[in-house]
Amino acid sequence: KKSEAWSARFSEPVSELVKRYTASVFFETRLAPFDIQGSLAHAEMLSHVGVISPKDYEDIQKGMKVILEEVESGQFSWQLDLEDVHLNIEKRLVELIGDAGKRLHTGRSRNDQVATDIRLWLRHEIDISADLLKQLRKALATTALEHYATIMPGFTHLQVAQPITFGHHLLAYAEMFGRDYQRLIDCRKRVNQLPLGAAALAGTSYPIDRERVAKTLSFEGICRNSLDAVSDRDFAIEFCAATSLVMAHISRLSEELILWMSPRVGFINLADRFCTGSSIMPQKKNPDVPELARGKTGRVNGNLIGLLTLMKGQPLAYNKDNQEDKEGLFDSADTLRDTLTIFIDMVSGIKVRADNMRQAALQGFSTATDLADYLVKKGLPFRDAHETVALAVRECEQKGIDLADLRLEELKAFNQAIDKDVFEVLTLEGSVSARNHIGGTAPERVKAEAERILAE
Ligand code: ARG
Repeated sequence: KKSEAWSARFSEPVSELVKRYTASVFFETRLAPFDIQGSLAHAEMLSHVGVISPKDYEDIQKGMKVILEEVESGQFSWQLDLEDVHLNIEKRLVELIGDAGKRLHTGRSRNDQVATDIRLWLRHEIDISADLLKQLRKALATTALEHYATIMPGFTHLQVAQPITFGHHLLAYAEMFGRDYQRLIDCRKRVNQLPLGAAALAGTSYPIDRERVAKTLSFEGICRNSLDAVSDRDFAIEFCAATSLVMAHISRLSEELILWMSPRVGFINLADRFCTGSSIMPQKKNPDVPELARGKTGRVNGNLIGLLTLMKGQPLAYNKDNQEDKEGLFDSADTLRDTLTIFIDMVSGIKVRADNMRQAALQGFSTATDLADYLVKKGLPFRDAHETVALAVRECEQKGIDLADLRLEELKAFNQAIDKDVFEVLTLEGSVSARNHIGGTAPERVKAEAERILAE
């Protein structure tokens, strides 16, 4: 028995294993609606330029309508023997409409076809995830607005550094996701280019109208070189890279949520629906969702490296290697979409334990910088002020008290310029509200930033 798909050229069939090894149909059925969309645009163009008849185009439309319904209802019977989505759909079309179906592939190859399908699918996926990123940014801003004046310790090296507001901390992530959004939108421009017309690699001798197809499919440009059109997957790599960055930000946020929820820290609680218990320890409530998100970041990074490696050794033009572009790409897109959807909900449901945050900010001499700045305003050079406060901190540490607990006479012993107005700068509120400039942690500023994001 000859191979089903290629017939005449082959004299012996491939083994079942080779069939499975070379087939892509079972992991790419999500491309089917886009494959149909691309085929219809191609057929419309062929009939417009007179390569096929208007009747053929009409039949193709009818047949594709049936196929789309079969695909969407799960009735379509995908066959391994037909290798991929493209051949499966084409075979079914011929079954349904006969010769017109056999004319569809005129002036086209699966090479430009698959490149088109992936771009159409990815464009759709980018639109969904970009919108989710926007929503996540707003969810962060909404929670930040509730907590624009809630004080917590800010950390460097995971050591208490200076007081900040919780709203300010959340808005740092809103900034990251804002850039991630921009990156996806930018990547979309390069995804949104039409490969159809490149055919196998060199273009086609039919009088095709690529501009027409691009317009039908809402591509904003046309791939200008047929060899490049069928062979590069840089647009997919770019998407994976952008996704890796989103996940890097998600992973950092996850790490903090996990840390903040640890009873040793006790800054927040996550809603029960994002946590699970333990099968042995009845008391446990584990932050599984952020932990998994942190873990999935590894897989998404792997997908990026996989695609980069897939591409690097390929000579022009299309090679079967490229069939390996799909699973990792699909996985990154799915992980991105699911993660963002869950995080929008989870971020909105953060329960803040403001007292614990405040308590933690009171420890660790978080207003030491404010005392140094106070001395500078009284005329000391900053380096001397820094040294003076370091001595004061050392004494407090020995006594087991905070800077604000020192009496005025004790403070004066460090520097005579210190007066009773010092106690205002030593408070947490005084410290945060003093940082009142663009990008600063002053509650007033945080409120304005959150409102600005919500108005976007
Ligand atoms: N399934 C193939 C892919 O994903 C479609 C293109 C096949 N082209 C070819 N010349 N074998 O890349």
